[in-house]
Amino acid sequence: MAAAKQVVRLAAGLALCAGSAAHAAPRPDFDRGADAGAVLEQLRAVEPPSVGGTESASGGGDVWITIGKSDLVGPAGAGTALGAPAASSKRAALYKVPADRLAELSHLMHEKFGRCGGFFAYETREEAEADLFAPPASKGGPYTLDQEAVVRPAAAAVKEGELRSTIETLAAFETRYYQSDTGVQASAWIQERWRALSATLPRASVAAVPHGWKQSSVVLTIPGSEKPDEIVVLGGHLDSISGWGFLRGRSPGADDNASGIAVLTEAIRVLAQAGFAPKRTVQFMGYSAEEVGLRGSKEIASRYAQQGKKVVGVIQFDMTNFKGSGDGIWLLEDNVDPELTAFLGKLVDAYAGVPWATTRCGYGCSDHASWTRSGFPASAAFESTFDGMNHSIHSERDTLANAGGNAAHSVPFARLAAAFAAELAKSAGTPSAHGR
Ligand code: BES
Ligand code: ZN
Repeated sequence: MAAAKQVVRLAAGLALCAGSAAHAAPRPDFDRGADAGAVLEQLRAVEPPSVGGTESASGGGDVWITIGKSDLVGPAGAGTALGAPAASSKRAALYKVPADRLAELSHLMHEKFGRCGGFFAYETREEAEADLFAPPASKGGPYTLDQEAVVRPAAAAVKEGELRSTIETLAAFETRYYQSDTGVQASAWIQERWRALSATLPRASVAAVPHGWKQSSVVLTIPGSEKPDEIVVLGGHLDSISGWGFLRGRSPGADDNASGIAVLTEAIRVLAQAGFAPKRTVQFMGYSAEEVGLRGSKEIASRYAQQGKKVVGVIQFDMTNFKGSGDGIWLLEDNVDPELTAFLGKLVDAYAGVPWATTRCGYGCSDHASWTRSGFPASAAFESTFDGMNHSIHSERDTLANAGGNAAHSVPFARLAAAFAAELAKSAGTPSAHGR
């Protein structure tokens, strides 16, 4: 227990991932090769706790992680400081680590490399290896803009109060940590809410997607009437995180990422109200376990790739309500499909009523990266520049009050979500049969 205590004490003195110190601290010089070995050494030095707090036995054991060579430790062989990987490809190396150490690994990487996360976790070696050698992204376009008849009324119906109410409800769960009971309850609440809202959408159904841990992902499917095998995905993570070790503290996650789930929820509401009936299949996804290595989305995206599903476009909403760089929407430029991202710019211009610009995370910072790695065209819309981000995330300070007490900044994101669903899936009975 002494070693575990030591890590808890060490952590208490460090900024949480993506917290203010991430930018205040000088970034390490990747090109000269940071001491990456210390990361896994510290990881291995920690004993597991004897009693598990909110952690359960399920989700334990070892997992496989891939770490992007250029993404994380830089060129010039710095990756070798991690020890010999179990396998490696041009872009990444593979390691086996205990699953219940992932949060610590994320934290230590942040400390050592000024990165948040920077690794992908998988349940099996096969999945991890498949990712190491994943094919380049397939194109989903051409994307066309001709669905004003449904998008205009839907966009006009977006209400700040609806967004705010979803954020408040989700932030009120003690935590939405992926191994907590309240995290399970939050997932169940989203299922019920989406079920109620989609009652008038044609043949819509809501399913819980179980994983090898407590909290399920949530998927709402509206089957396409003409091209049901072509899928449009809108997603955001439903879990939250804060604190350290196994006794996770209060994690409201109002911005990260109740705000993204609120955007999806509002898009469902206004699309249903506008009588939307898609040609292609539309799926709204609330992912579990994003905060511990994009694990929920990783499972779903790699399963879709294995099953040969045709995903024509993915959009990720992760953090939409903090006005860190003024009004507008920032489109991520890394780990995304450039053509789809350019189309998002057109959708914002046409329907969102705010300006847009681009920014970069610099690493696979959210679930869009899972889809990109599985070969699908993915995009992501963010609340600010990366530098202007909300520094209260991953702490008990990530509340609605911290974002001004309202959901005004999320309104254009909900309009964009409705536009994305309608313009990529197209409405049944409308003439554009070929474009997306
Ligand atoms: N919403 C964040 C990612 C983020 C933070 C984007 C700040 C832009 C600015 C997300 O929930 C998150 O925390 N992701 C993890 C990913 C990791 C576990 C692979 C991260 O960044 O540490
Ligand atoms: Zn987060």
